[in-house]
Amino acid sequence: MSVLPSESKPFPHRHLLGIEGLFPIEISHLLDRAEAYVEQNRQADKKKSLLGGRTVINLFFEASTRTRTSFELAGKRLGADVINMSVATSSIKKGETLIDTAMTLNAMHPDVLVVRHSESGAVRLLSEKVNCALLNGGDGSHEHPTQALLDALTIRRRKGRLDNLVVAICGDILHSRVARSNIHLLNIMGAQVRLIGPKTLIPGGAAALGATVHHDMKEGLSDCDIVMMLRLQTERMHRNYFPSVREYFRFFGLTYDKLASAKPDALIMHPGPMNRGVEIDSEVADDIGRSAIRQQVEMGVAVRMACLEAVTGNLPEISGEVV
Ligand code: NCD
Repeated sequence: MSVLPSESKPFPHRHLLGIEGLFPIEISHLLDRAEAYVEQNRQADKKKSLLGGRTVINLFFEASTRTRTSFELAGKRLGADVINMSVATSSIKKGETLIDTAMTLNAMHPDVLVVRHSESGAVRLLSEKVNCALLNGGDGSHEHPTQALLDALTIRRRKGRLDNLVVAICGDILHSRVARSNIHLLNIMGAQVRLIGPKTLIPGGAAALGATVHHDMKEGLSDCDIVMMLRLQTERMHRNYFPSVREYFRFFGLTYDKLASAKPDALIMHPGPMNRGVEIDSEVADDIGRSAIRQQVEMGVAVRMACLEAVTGNLPEISGEVV
């Protein structure tokens, strides 16, 4: 259950496990703080000492380029010590359980654990065991809160607002934690969400999530403000969801022809990694006037700085003996 935000603590949570249940004021607070970090990150001297003495551990059980690197930069730019652990080099390879690994790290008194895991709910489970703050770097197909926040910051900077925008999220919604976190955030902030994809890749309860569903790209993109493309997450697919990549691209790949249905100034977004020629045409992806894909990456560092600042602000001064 969410704790009501107060004047003194605009983000009163110990952890950031997801976007679901957050209040608009909490999201706006994180975006406003991130805004200040965007400027700091553009200076020659990018470093602050706000998190001096703090330890952040990045614990990634799944591959990552953007998320892990930007959490590392975010921690370092705030003056924390940052350690990166990937499964390839951890004792998980030797059969240790997720909880044992996390408890072992917890005994070293980190202040923040950033966790990415293939199982939905894994990060919440850990949050019940450790006494540091937990940031969800993506759990299965459940949530990826910092991605939704960086997407929101990108949209807010380019469009000046989040409310009353029409956002089309296209592709493999079923397996996408990015989609789920974005649907929550956009609904909370008053945007309209459309989901576009083949029937097999749209989850059953999409309407209950507060989105309309479309199986035709041109219809779904019609007059939208934002086009958010998603990768086919084949690592989570255990059967065939579409006949072939060629056919998928024909019906659901973003091309200029399909984009013509959107507003003339519609923004193109993608969380990365992109598969060119699968969900997006190369030319469209590289359209510097309309694509915000690089800007999303830039916003990622600033948003993660804001999230680290928010959760460490709620930690007790002394964490006590580990039991
Ligand atoms: C996304 C993820 O890992 O969920 N990538 C990211 O964090 N930028 C999307 C994806 O893997 O397709």
